[in-house]
Amino acid sequence: MRITMIGTGYVGLVSGACFSDFGHEVVCVDKDASKIEALERNVMPIYEPGLDALVASNVKAGRLSFTTDLAAGVAGADAVFIAVGTPSRRGDGHADLSYVFGAVHEVVAALTGPAVIVTKSTVPVGTGDEVERIVAEVGPEKGIKVASNPEFLREGAAIDDFKRPDRVVCGVEDDFAREVLAQIYRPLSLNQSAPVLFTRRRTAEIIKYAANAFLATKITFINEIADLCEVAGADVQEVARGIGLDNRIGRKFLHAGPGYGGSCFPKDTLALLKTAQDYESPLRIVEAVVTANDQRKRAMGRKVIKAAGGDVKGKTIGILGLTFKPNTDDMRDSPAIAIIQTLQDAGAVVRAYDPEGREQAEKVLNNVDYVDGPYEAAEGAAALVIVTEWDAFRALDLGRIKSLLTDPLLVDLRNVYPPVEAEKAGLRYVGIGK
Ligand code: UDX
Repeated sequence: MRITMIGTGYVGLVSGACFSDFGHEVVCVDKDASKIEALERNVMPIYEPGLDALVASNVKAGRLSFTTDLAAGVAGADAVFIAVGTPSRRGDGHADLSYVFGAVHEVVAALTGPAVIVTKSTVPVGTGDEVERIVAEVGPEKGIKVASNPEFLREGAAIDDFKRPDRVVCGVEDDFAREVLAQIYRPLSLNQSAPVLFTRRRTAEIIKYAANAFLATKITFINEIADLCEVAGADVQEVARGIGLDNRIGRKFLHAGPGYGGSCFPKDTLALLKTAQDYESPLRIVEAVVTANDQRKRAMGRKVIKAAGGDVKGKTIGILGLTFKPNTDDMRDSPAIAIIQTLQDAGAVVRAYDPEGREQAEKVLNNVDYVDGPYEAAEGAAALVIVTEWDAFRALDLGRIKSLLTDPLLVDLRNVYPPVEAEKAGLRYVGIGK
């Protein structure tokens, strides 16, 4: 199949590279000339393990190319995937669909024959109908069909998630779109690595938001249970295991922590709430999840202050990990932002280390002293706080950490270390839900 990918952000670039690796011929289009130039030199705009090698090998094989010229990019395409951003609209939290509709306009105008326009960006229910209206207005005679194919890949594990997904969801309203998408995902159904689920288009659109809201709920649920464990004298990790072994619940996404962040959960839960409001069909559980998660991030800052004796004025606090999760440089809605701001508001001096996030962190945080390693972050600090569970923080020499700190306090917001291990090294340990 000949595939055009509009947008070379996380979803677009990973999907485009993986489709080409399936054997399809893929052209990735982006308006940002510097990004396209960089991609042509095999410089990735994001940090994602394995992506540069995947792009390089498919470019070399002649299956993957990049352009800023949308008209040339869509020429002869069987499917044009729309993978542009859908940020939260300022003020109301609605998904901002102007990039999606803008791209669709251009694509319809440029296409000369039948093709399927597929939304891969996360878009609210009914967006496909709107895309269809644009097709009817701009190019009704071209035989263009509209489908929805939400993407579930996670940052940091994006290639594996794309190639070995739990399922693929395709929302279609006609046989042509169904056939094109079936061909595109044939490599996955051939080796039976994933069920390809065909639904109506509106159903597919809801599936994506429902999945993200459910996962955000699962995390928030265990986070609140963690708070209860702390005051009631129980261990949340054992509780998570105890409930997670029940197959109906499942063990994944039950790691208590400082709250979820990232480019999807915060934005998509808000957008889903707006949709629910528009349809006057309240989602009270998701409302509670959003509020609880927002409040949790600052509460984590206060937790650190409390562990440090209630006053951090003038004290240095070392932070390990800034990104919203490991293996990414993404700082969007990272809990580290609210935690650091709370500490700074209380007068603390923040010293931080993150293996990949520094550049992005510098754009959103002020007055942070960045260092080049975990031990440097601990040096002369009154506490060391693990905010993101990078592998590099999993086997620290805790004795050395202790000797570097002025006050031997380890606040482990990801429960990386067993308390006894830290205590054996002479550290005072504060975890989550312990
Ligand atoms: C998520 C969805 O998993 C993915 O399917 C969707 O396509 C995009 O949104 P992503 O944002 O990349 O992916 O990260 P994910 O691994 O899901 O983590 C999201 C946040 O939840 C992170 O801040 C992470 O630290 C937190 N989290 C996750 C927990 O606090 N506990 C958990 O058990 C799991």
